[in-house]
Amino acid sequence: SWTMPNYIDEAVAKIRQQVGSDEVILGLSGGVDSSVAAALIHRAIGNQLTCVFVDHGLLRYKEAEMVMDMFARNLGVNVIHVDASGEFMRKLAGVTDPEQKRKIIGAEFVEVFQQEAGKRQNARWLAQGTIYPDVIESAGAKTNKAHAIKSHHNVGGLPETLNLSLLEPLRDLFKDEVRQLGVALGLPREMVYRHPFPGPGLGVRILGEVKREYADLLRRADHIFIEELRNTVDAEGVSWYDNTSQAFAVFLPVKSVGVMGDGRTYEYVVALRAVVTSDFMTAHWAELPYSLLGRVSNRIINEVRGINRVVYDVSGKPPATIEWE
Ligand code: XMP
Repeated sequence: SWTMPNYIDEAVAKIRQQVGSDEVILGLSGGVDSSVAAALIHRAIGNQLTCVFVDHGLLRYKEAEMVMDMFARNLGVNVIHVDASGEFMRKLAGVTDPEQKRKIIGAEFVEVFQQEAGKRQNARWLAQGTIYPDVIESAGAKTNKAHAIKSHHNVGGLPETLNLSLLEPLRDLFKDEVRQLGVALGLPREMVYRHPFPGPGLGVRILGEVKREYADLLRRADHIFIEELRNTVDAEGVSWYDNTSQAFAVFLPVKSVGVMGDGRTYEYVVALRAVVTSDFMTAHWAELPYSLLGRVSNRIINEVRGINRVVYDVSGKPPATIEWE
């Protein structure tokens, strides 16, 4: 009968058979799919796997450290950590159009990944965390209108010039199965059940021009929001993080007035967004407790110098989208 340990044994055997003694490279994003793929492939072939983790400077709070701790230090996976944030920031300077920002981030990502992958002369395989819904989605992409609206640029974007064969060990799995597999492989539950995070990261959560200063403020505000969501439970004892499908902060590059002592301050605004959805095509704004919202607001304003106003987004999708850009 079907059990997770059997499944892992079979998947491991299949990967070993497929790649033999070849080297494999994988783009690790910190997301669930690429993380589970990395853990599974590492279980199968150990040191024959090298992961490339590209930090575009638009990741969540301490995300790079988290990825390096989990994979390099705890699991002993080879991970090349590329801090490309300077290059991404230069390319994004002066760019305000959301689709343009997505294109730049996506293209630069492929560029940096290719550069690193190109150094691995012996690599024969490119591993990806493609899951079953991705397979379906790309088959239907031409007719899928929602898809055409935004260029959903994920870490994928196969660098064809690398001339590598594709290794996609999660191709038959649904998201929930990928999560179960991740837990069975020893990845931390909080990581495996994380909310989705867009490929362009904070790049589409900073409205208009992306600046490092904005990203730093946003990261800290977002982290406070997520921390409070994780630490606050509802009447059934379920955390508000687990009660919501996606939650994050958005940086608004406008300054509004505040008071501090006898003086006025003019500082930035942060919007909080939390939604409940089953398919991300439609979504309700989450009815978070006022006390929770109040705590998040106080903490952000007190702890993040440069932000003096916090608002909560009460728009449904449609007509509003989940992201602000
Ligand atoms: P929207 O904003 O379209 O978002 O309601 C629906 C879901 O898609 C995610 N999203 C993206 N994911 N690259 C991604 O990888 C993108 O450019 C992108 N834009 C939106 C969003 O976070 C939500 O889960």
